[in-house]
Amino acid sequence: MNLYNYFINNNGSKIIKYAHYFPIYERYFSRYQNRPVTFLEIGTGYGGSAKMWKYYFGPMARIVSIDIRPECKNYEEEQIAVRIGSQSDRQFLQGLLNEFGPFDIVMDDGSHHHDDINVSFDFLYPRMARDGIYLAEDLNGGYWSKLGGGLRSENSFINRCKGFVDEMHARHTIYGENGDETVPETNITRTTSAIHFYDSIIVLEKTPYINKQMLQTPE
Ligand SMILES: C[S@@+](CC[C@H](N)C(=O)[O-])C[C@H]1O[C@@H](n2cnc3c(N)ncnc32)[C@H](O)[C@@H]1O
Repeated sequence: MNLYNYFINNNGSKIIKYAHYFPIYERYFSRYQNRPVTFLEIGTGYGGSAKMWKYYFGPMARIVSIDIRPECKNYEEEQIAVRIGSQSDRQFLQGLLNEFGPFDIVMDDGSHHHDDINVSFDFLYPRMARDGIYLAEDLNGGYWSKLGGGLRSENSFINRCKGFVDEMHARHTIYGENGDETVPETNITRTTSAIHFYDSIIVLEKTPYINKQMLQTPE
């Protein structure tokens, strides 16, 4: 089943995507096909993408799509739950967790404002499945002040993720010498196995346990 094929032949509700996203989706999402995955889409748009995810993940998937526009409720159907609220409203997000449980995948295609992207990530990432995938897209706005970004802006999710790369390596920083700077361990250090940067997409892979022993064989 090829996601791009589905998209290119879509004659139903509108879907808006950059072409180079499709192979990225397949790379991280394919292991969930035909599994009981709980998928959160932030940004329902015209409802076409939620249908695409339903088709892609198969009959056991639960697609939850959120948007601030009340009319998006019309896009609900079997397997697709639409909830109206803002991705930066923590109470609303907690309500989703209460209703649907921890998400296996979170895909942020919402306001694209980095204030909102940050709130959603900070709230949902620690609360999602321990082996989950968090994907934020259309991050090109991270270079624009009108979307809360800027090349060296600390608010840009792209720049925050550059810092997460250092947090991922925190345990190694203590072995430096001559006053080398160290990085404190964080939730990212303990739960993130990989951070992938693409043009306008970042994917974080979670893991319940990371074995970081240095091994040597034979003894
Ligand atoms: C780019 S569109 C989504 C496109 C859709 N996912 C697709 O692939 O076709 C972005 C959507 O995010 C919604 N949105 C904007 N601000 C939001 C917020 N704070 N919380 C949730 N959704 C928001 C908009 O109403 C719009 O429908």
